[in-house]
Amino acid sequence: MQTHTTDQDVTVLNDMAEIPGLGFLPVNAFVIHAEQPVVIDTGLSTDDKDFVSWLSGAIDPVDVRWIWLTHPDRDHTGGLYDLLDAAPHAKVVTTFIGVGILSTARPLPLDRVHLLNPGQSLDVGDRQLSGLRPPLFDNPATVGVVDHKTGALFSSDCFGAPLPSADAASAHDVREVGPDDLRAGQRLWASVDSPWVQNVDPRLFRATIDPIRSLDPSTIFSTHLPAARGLNRTMLEMLDGTPGIDPFVGPDQAALEAMLATFEPAPA
Ligand SMILES: [Fe+2]
Ligand SMILES: [Fe+2]
Repeated sequence: MQTHTTDQDVTVLNDMAEIPGLGFLPVNAFVIHAEQPVVIDTGLSTDDKDFVSWLSGAIDPVDVRWIWLTHPDRDHTGGLYDLLDAAPHAKVVTTFIGVGILSTARPLPLDRVHLLNPGQSLDVGDRQLSGLRPPLFDNPATVGVVDHKTGALFSSDCFGAPLPSADAASAHDVREVGPDDLRAGQRLWASVDSPWVQNVDPRLFRATIDPIRSLDPSTIFSTHLPAARGLNRTMLEMLDGTPGIDPFVGPDQAALEAMLATFEPAPA
């Protein structure tokens, strides 16, 4: 877990998850230091994480006004309820479906909820944020964030990639990742996280990329990739090539048993 700031009013809270056989997946949350501070996603859900303490290095949690949940997958919700306790003035920005999904484990208090759909905006004092549904997503509650003051796009799972090393997964800038590793990792992630993209009409899918092309983000902050600045063409070309991609098929039981056998101690 490490924290770094950018020149776009953003602090990146960078963690990672090692996925056997795939690589090191960055897992990022963010703070937008707006007049009304915004936390975007709340980290992994494993017991060893203390998101609120980590966040405290970037901002006093009491000052947080908005917790924008890009979607309620467990690699994004780890610190959610602790942060709600630590940030009494904060509301959770999510969708009706997001509230519903969260309620299957632990309901959100509805007076702490702010419902926002793609295309709608949120005034955070010194800027407008708006919701954007990224072209690739794995959860129907997904809403990315456009910061209209800085031009930054927070793309949720879209553009993510498992990377070959922990160093790459903790890079501050995606240019530190080799272009071949980046492209291969992003295509792999698309096949893992959005397997439905194999079945989509390429023309219809490409129309979902157009809003990002028009926006021409100053930086793309994915929850699963180092920050990408000045690489919009590369990133959008990658998306363009995902319709028809072969879906990922994970190891089966025989592969699991073969792997476990390598862990067993030699017989006495
Ligand atoms: Fe997800
Ligand atoms: Fe995710």
